[in-house]
Amino acid sequence: MPPIETPSISRRCLVAAGAASAAATASPLAATAASNADAPVLAKVSFEINGKPQTLELDTRTTLLDALREHLKLTGTKKGCDHGQCGACTVIVEGRRINSCLSLAVMHEGDRVTTIEGLGAPDRLHPMQAAFVKHDGYQCGYCTPGQICSAVAVLDEIKAGIPSHVSADLTASPEVSGEELRERMSGNICRCGAYSNIVEAITEVAGRTA
Ligand code: FES
Ligand code: FES
Repeated sequence: MPPIETPSISRRCLVAAGAASAAATASPLAATAASNADAPVLAKVSFEINGKPQTLELDTRTTLLDALREHLKLTGTKKGCDHGQCGACTVIVEGRRINSCLSLAVMHEGDRVTTIEGLGAPDRLHPMQAAFVKHDGYQCGYCTPGQICSAVAVLDEIKAGIPSHVSADLTASPEVSGEELRERMSGNICRCGAYSNIVEAITEVAGRTA
């Protein structure tokens, strides 16, 4: 019987060759899986922005704020904290104010969204915009679009009888008082400190529309 030939390969070489072969086959798969996991998932969303129907195809992680600013170029709505803490991104959705940085755009299929551009324009200001100008309700203006959208919705909330944290009687119609307005506007931060003028502006509009 002929002698059995021992292959001239060491254990170390064998392990190395095995690892290389595994890498050659497994790596492309792993890389593909990783890149698939990272690939954005796109979805279509159709909504009405400032009275105009719009359809966008978006990464499902896109916030309403980024959809407005980056995809529709409606840069009136501002990004302050991007964390729901400053109110600069406030817009009105189906009549209610929301922080657009905290809401995914694809959640708003069919919704009516109003931004500062939809409230008025320089040649036809919304009464709230005109009151902010009249009462110097801003300095740098960065928080102002959010303040104005919030203020418009606040007056609607009061009109609808929705109580706030400082409403003494939850069953009575809330009043447009300085205390009520300060509480209801407390989610809109103004780094320039234009708060007292903002309250004056809202009070004036409430008087006009009450
Ligand atoms: S940017 Fe949305 S709350 Fe600050
Ligand atoms: S006007 Fe400057 S942050 Fe409010």
